[in-house]
Amino acid sequence: KPVVLSGIQPSGRLTIGNYLGALKNWVTLNEQFDCYYMLVDLHAITVRQDPAVLRERCYEFLSLYIACGLDPRKNVLFVQSHVPAHARLSWILNCYTQMGELNRMTQFKDKSAKHVDNINAGLYGYPVLMAADILLYQAKKVPVGDDQKQHLELTRDVAQRFNNVYGPIFTVPEPMIPPVGARIMGLQTPESKMSKSDDAETNAIYLLDDPDVITRKVKRAVTDLGNEVRFDIAEKPGVSNLMSILSATTGDSFDKIVEQYNGQGYGKFKGAVAEAVVECLKPVQAKYRDVRDDRSGLQSILREGARKAAARADATLARVHEALGFIPE
Ligand code: TYM
Repeated sequence: KPVVLSGIQPSGRLTIGNYLGALKNWVTLNEQFDCYYMLVDLHAITVRQDPAVLRERCYEFLSLYIACGLDPRKNVLFVQSHVPAHARLSWILNCYTQMGELNRMTQFKDKSAKHVDNINAGLYGYPVLMAADILLYQAKKVPVGDDQKQHLELTRDVAQRFNNVYGPIFTVPEPMIPPVGARIMGLQTPESKMSKSDDAETNAIYLLDDPDVITRKVKRAVTDLGNEVRFDIAEKPGVSNLMSILSATTGDSFDKIVEQYNGQGYGKFKGAVAEAVVECLKPVQAKYRDVRDDRSGLQSILREGARKAAARADATLARVHEALGFIPE
């Protein structure tokens, strides 16, 4: 079976953006693909983390992966730092990536503007580590939200460049971006994307928010002075974002949403959005409560995941070493 790989940084709290843009779509892929899903802790430390918080958050995110429907028997779930090949291939790919390419990465520009006191080399090399993550598994598809598109393009460029020199070592991956939900915006700032490390609590809906909190956040979401429910990102960013959330959670088309809610003010529409999100998260939250306390169970999932992941990753790394002329281990 072809391989799918994706990952999430264990930083902040998982949002409905992470869910609709990525996680929700991962769950459906294991019939068709061999699926590898990571917690990218090496990426997370490009920003300062409190060690105790980071450790707890990794367990929380793993529990949420499972709660969202990722069965550890059918998907390889692992932590990036448990598989040394990621750091090793990342170094090698650094030597095949141009500084000019990294200078163009918009996420680096955004993050270095936000963390001016810690613009470290890891933040700069972040996309190279991500390329290593993907190429190690020979992944064919990478299910991500819209904001990762540029990193995927870089990954493809680096893979092709390497292959051009050494022969077909890497599978050139393609992004898999959902038609709706790939870019969920902040509820208070619908012109910028919803983020799990946002400081403003009301800007994001978190997967573990209580139903009444979700309802309150949706009801207070910024809209506009008009009263039309229609999809128009430029003119109506707030309403369009709520439409995306409703469509991605219920499967209803934009046309159907307009038909159902247009001409009735925003109150009823927002009520429907809140209800759809609450309903969609209810089973996730229930399952989360079932799995999160079984520490030794979670640890053994990660141990088993790392073992399977390393087997595949090491095979690719060995081929790379051989191609480069390194003496076999
Ligand atoms: P991260 O941790 O920022 O986000 C995890 C996933 O959630 C998606 N996402 C969104 N989708 C829709 N709307 C939003 N507002 C939104 N915010 C985030 C992201 O696109 C992503 O799919 N660099 C990656 C992690 C990574 C990775 C990888 C991904 C490291 N190595 C290899 C795939 C393959 C990141 O920071 O994602």
